[in-house]
Amino acid sequence: MVRESGVSMPHKNGPRRKVKIAPSLLSADFSRIAEQIALVEGAGADLLHLDVMDGRFVPNITWGPKIIRDIRPLTQLPFDTHLMIVEPERYVADFAAAGSDSITVHWEAATHAHLLIQQIKKLGVRAGLSLNPATPLNVLDEILPYLDLLLIMSVDPGFGGQSYIPSSTQKLAAARELIDRRGCNVQLEVDGGVHLDNVVEVARAGPDTIVMGAGLFGTAKPALTLERIRALCEA
Ligand code: DX5
Ligand code: ZN
Repeated sequence: MVRESGVSMPHKNGPRRKVKIAPSLLSADFSRIAEQIALVEGAGADLLHLDVMDGRFVPNITWGPKIIRDIRPLTQLPFDTHLMIVEPERYVADFAAAGSDSITVHWEAATHAHLLIQQIKKLGVRAGLSLNPATPLNVLDEILPYLDLLLIMSVDPGFGGQSYIPSSTQKLAAARELIDRRGCNVQLEVDGGVHLDNVVEVARAGPDTIVMGAGLFGTAKPALTLERIRALCEA
């Protein structure tokens, strides 16, 4: 079930748009995960971002499909699965079956990106492509029209709680302009280092969805932080 509860955002290049907030469970406390999910769902989260890491594409390991399947009954929120793994084509079916609503793979890990995007769509989930900070937008020239989602990394993937890379704002704005200019139906998402103190700047660059991990779960009161972010963005 996809909720449409994003808040109104100022956007310098066009009409006010809605931005969705996607808490990343990477920074949540898994010893009380049901409570953590309920907390952000109650505070108005729009979807849940699930970071899958394999210790090869990135130097960290998180979880596989079983964890996603186990937490699926805990919430109505869509699951936004971000695969930071090598050979993603081997696993996308498992992550779709586990209950993902969208699956995003990395351009840097996809040898046959076009084929892989089709493979994900055939599984009945939305297909996303993510770009690392050092990967330029021009790699999207051919693939952009095929995507449901474009994820711009604003940190080098692998860990929560890293600092936002300042040049990401310009890249995000350029991605917004590219999607609009080419008239593509692609959701634009940004991931990494977004906090209360930079969320307005990031939102102004025009993403449809902002992922937040440590910026929510690393604060004393994540629900209150989420509510403050919504208020800030609406101001
Ligand atoms: C980083 C992950 C992010 C991470 C973001 O590799 O892809 O989704 O959870 O966390 P913060 O918001 O803490 O940078
Ligand atoms: Zn992520």
